[in-house]
Amino acid sequence: MKLRCRSYAKINWTLDVLGVRPDGYHELRTVLQTIDLHDELWFERVQSGIQLSSNEPALPLDETNLVYRAAELFRRSKGVTAGVRVHINKRIPMGAGLGGGSSNAAVTLLALQRVWQVSVDAGELIELAATLGSDVPCFLYGGTVLGLGRGAEVYPLPDYFCPYVLVVVPPIHVSTSEVYAWLRHRLTTYTAPAKIADCCAAVLRTYQPWFSNSGGGGWKEASTNDLEPVVVNLYPEVGRMLQQMQRLGARLVRMSGSGAAAIAVFESESMLSHGQAELSQAPWRTIRTRTVGRDEYWASWIINE
Ligand code: C5P
Repeated sequence: MKLRCRSYAKINWTLDVLGVRPDGYHELRTVLQTIDLHDELWFERVQSGIQLSSNEPALPLDETNLVYRAAELFRRSKGVTAGVRVHINKRIPMGAGLGGGSSNAAVTLLALQRVWQVSVDAGELIELAATLGSDVPCFLYGGTVLGLGRGAEVYPLPDYFCPYVLVVVPPIHVSTSEVYAWLRHRLTTYTAPAKIADCCAAVLRTYQPWFSNSGGGGWKEASTNDLEPVVVNLYPEVGRMLQQMQRLGARLVRMSGSGAAAIAVFESESMLSHGQAELSQAPWRTIRTRTVGRDEYWASWIINE
């Protein structure tokens, strides 16, 4: 049994950090979005064991890899005895805030149900995903997703479609836990709201103007990333990169997740091409992409079986 899959990257349209939770994580309000940039994962059922390979020499292939951890968690929780061989064809820059490892883990959970012919119900799948990392559950929906709690409590939102997105990646590998640790100095302790429904309603109200706004204005006000100033402070090159991106005439320039990759959203293909050309002398990798909605996500995650 073989399966070849797409594993899409994500960006964050917004990322608000409310405070420190009793479990040490941070309470988030984030809107995540899958984009067309993707890795490819090739699964093959074998007799036993979990074997990983990759085109990317810097990718660890041991039990620290999220694909390995996802397969091991799946195997243990469902009592599977068969093994799997997974080849990871990496295209998503690593440690850049684009969720590549998390996406790989989510796709592994989805793919192994077919490869091992063991189904997992939706509730259990979300729990397994959340165990693997805060960003993993959003890849069980794809499209535009609201993340609450530590980011792992996910709700699908109407898809927001942007055809002209430029991802800019500096040669900086950011540690997510380090960024949160720096932010922590400025935050007070979080007190949980009495009702989840109140909390969700407040969040949806916050994002309403942003979602109903297709005319162009208001993007910069609606989009936030509380981790951006922390990363700019730690890595001045990211500040320079964002400043240079601001001059490209984009509707929005925003760092993704804990960085250091950032996105610029343009109004037209010609503005995107112009923006990319302007950055051609800069020491940063540029990737043209677009958003991937939920329908496309599910129609395309399997390349062939
Ligand atoms: O959940 P995940 O393993 O992806 O998180 C990586 C690190 O980022 C955590 O160990 C924690 O230090 C930090 N984090 C956090 N609050 C969140 C998400 C992540 O403090 N909501």
